[in-house]
Amino acid sequence: MSALSELYTEIVRCQRCEIARLRTHAVPGEGAENAEILFIGEAPGYHEDQLGRPFVGQAGQFLERLLVSIDLKREQVYIANVIKCRPLGNRDPLPTEISNCRGWLEKQIELIAPRMIVSLGRFSMAMFFPGKTISKIHGMAQKRGNIIYYAMYHPAAALHQNGLRREIEADMQKIPLLLAQAKTMPATEPSLQPAQLKMFEV
Ligand code: URA
Repeated sequence: MSALSELYTEIVRCQRCEIARLRTHAVPGEGAENAEILFIGEAPGYHEDQLGRPFVGQAGQFLERLLVSIDLKREQVYIANVIKCRPLGNRDPLPTEISNCRGWLEKQIELIAPRMIVSLGRFSMAMFFPGKTISKIHGMAQKRGNIIYYAMYHPAAALHQNGLRREIEADMQKIPLLLAQAKTMPATEPSLQPAQLKMFEV
């Protein structure tokens, strides 16, 4: 059993939050254990809770189309969420739920060791870019240590607002080049750099 599978056995037993008692399934995440890119959404929705898999509803279908647009299949990346249980009625995750779940996500990052972490939506962004605003930093990358952090809008938001759809499609298109440059890109703490700039700077 891989270390990631062992971690998932622990996650599905977790009872730290109230919502653990209301779930059908916990949704630890799925994908290639050695994925170069880790996508992190917000929380499971109805369909994810039913199946125990991340991004399997409408937002997930859109995410899969976005991946295809850069020649990737979902099996080639890793997909997880900030919190692993569904908040009832799809409300926003509570601060306590986020902090209770934080350790699971940190362990996932350590085991998958991705070259790039793509946050989807503001709750995920807040974990990696605290204090920032998604409308200002989406499409921007920052390398810290060996990982490139990159913020995008949540695919569900883009489904409801046509303007955002174009933004998220454009942001996805920047990923292959950022990834290709990951090896040579210097760490840029603490300032954020537009992805566009990074692409041509290195
Ligand atoms: N939205 C998320 O943030 N995560 C999922 O898994 C599904 C929808």
